Amino acid sequence: MRLVSSLTILLFVLPAAAQDAGRGRALYETHCGGCHYERVHERTRSDIKSLGELRAAVAKWAPQSKRNFTPDELADIVEYLNVSHYRIGIAPDLPRRGG
Ligand code: HEC
Repeated sequence: MRLVSSLTILLFVLPAAAQDAGRGRALYETHCGGCHYERVHERTRSDIKSLGELRAAVAKWAPQSKRNFTPDELADIVEYLNVSHYRIGIAPDLPRRGG
């Protein structure tokens, strides 16, 4: 019984709105890969410098896929593309502490 209630508490503590990069990846590969290889998202050639710009670009290009995405799905795609390519706000290396 104790274990069950601990698990229940854990489920409530986990952020309900956490973005799911795995789902974003599946959505991207299914609906977005037809036009561009993921190479278009390479940081060196992209003008996208902030999460706001990435969100705007995903929202701008999503209708090209002819599928309607929910805001949640768009957020998952943004999360996937950021984790896999843009890495805005993500340390490029393992964090180094103490210099
Ligand atoms: C009809 C073709 C087409 C479809 C479908 C499409 N895109 Fe694109 N997308 C493009 C083109 C063309 C560009 C511009 C590529 C370039 O800058 O060289 C682009 C650029 C982008 C960029 C900006 C890349 C950068 O960093 O400069 C993002 C982000 C993007 N698309 C996301 C998506 C997502 C997410 C989907 C699916 C929901 C999608 N696209 C579906 C054609 C498409």
